[in-house]
Amino acid sequence: MKLTIALTFGACFAAGAAWAAEKPAPAPNGIELPAYYKNWRVIGVSHRQDKESLRVIVGNDTAVDAARTGNTHPWPDGSILGKLAWKDQTHPNWPAATVPGEFVHAEFMIKDSAKYAKTGGWGFARWLGMEQKPYGQDASFVQECLACHDQVKDNDSVFTHPAPLP
Ligand code: HEC
Repeated sequence: MKLTIALTFGACFAAGAAWAAEKPAPAPNGIELPAYYKNWRVIGVSHRQDKESLRVIVGNDTAVDAARTGNTHPWPDGSILGKLAWKDQTHPNWPAATVPGEFVHAEFMIKDSAKYAKTGGWGFARWLGMEQKPYGQDASFVQECLACHDQVKDNDSVFTHPAPLP
């Protein structure tokens, strides 16, 4: 038992240290890239024909629980929605299939209705490419995000409707 605890603790510590070593710079508005987002669960998918890219919309546990129970009007504080985008690529063995090619970006909306009251209750941030370069010259990049996301204010500024599940 003791050994198991020690090993588990050790593994967590090692994972934490690995994350600290590879952690990209924060966005210009101070938001840090959410840790372990690559392990989050899926809320929705989309294909942007105009951008020729595939997107997976993922969430942290708070967001996924909200999505699965229909508690998204508004999304609860602590929810983080992520969108991961890849350029369209044709499957080499099955041309009718569009699959993820080059990784475009990871972007996030963090719900904290007090902290981000001025931007609809959401903190916005984006990291570009495999090198995860923070997007934006300065904190005003958020205005770009709002230009689109404000259009769905009546859906808590979120475009995604959780994908139907049995
Ligand atoms: C040109 C319009 C546009 C701009 C600008 C934009 N978004 Fe979005 N965003 C969308 C659309 C449309 C979706 C729905 C999913 C999809 O089709 O890609 C979306 C989805 C998202 C999602 C998933 C949750 C949701 O609302 O569906 C996140 C997270 C997100 N965007 C973050 C950002 C961030 C951060 C910025 C600014 C750096 C930004 N977006 C700028 C149009 C935009």
